[in-house]
Amino acid sequence: MFAVSLSAHAHAQTSDATAAALADAWRAVRVADCARCHGKDHEGLAAPSIVDFARTQSRERFIAAILDGNPPMGMPAYRGNPLIESHIDAIYRYFAGRADGSIAAGAMPDRP
Ligand code: HEC
Repeated sequence: MFAVSLSAHAHAQTSDATAAALADAWRAVRVADCARCHGKDHEGLAAPSIVDFARTQSRERFIAAILDGNPPMGMPAYRGNPLIESHIDAIYRYFAGRADGSIAAGAMPDRP
């Protein structure tokens, strides 16, 4: 019931193109296996919560954290990785949606 009302809400707010981009971002994040370090649903494990980071940081800082990484601390730099770089805006929007509750953990955001 909760998930259904969330996705209805997301549909009302997002265009079909946005929904498709979010689904692609969701898939890219899974293929890159960010969860290996950031935990199930990316809410923190060995590495900090990506959802909390999206909640508290600007879009610019969020994107820089992923593209530049922090290799000495164990965060790979994804600049030059086409899977991540080509979806970086939608990856930010996906985690911003997770942070504000408009996107539920786990399921792929609805595709049109
Ligand atoms: C090999 C383990 C590993 C993988 C894989 C990984 N990360 Fe990280 N990530 C880290 C670590 C460790 C940090 C904390 C670095 C630090 O202390 O500054 C981090 C930090 C971050 C931050 C900043 C969070 C903060 O609180 O400083 C973001 C955003 C992030 N990662 C996103 C991602 C995304 C998106 C992916 C997949 C594309 C990913 N990470 C894959 C280990 C990883």
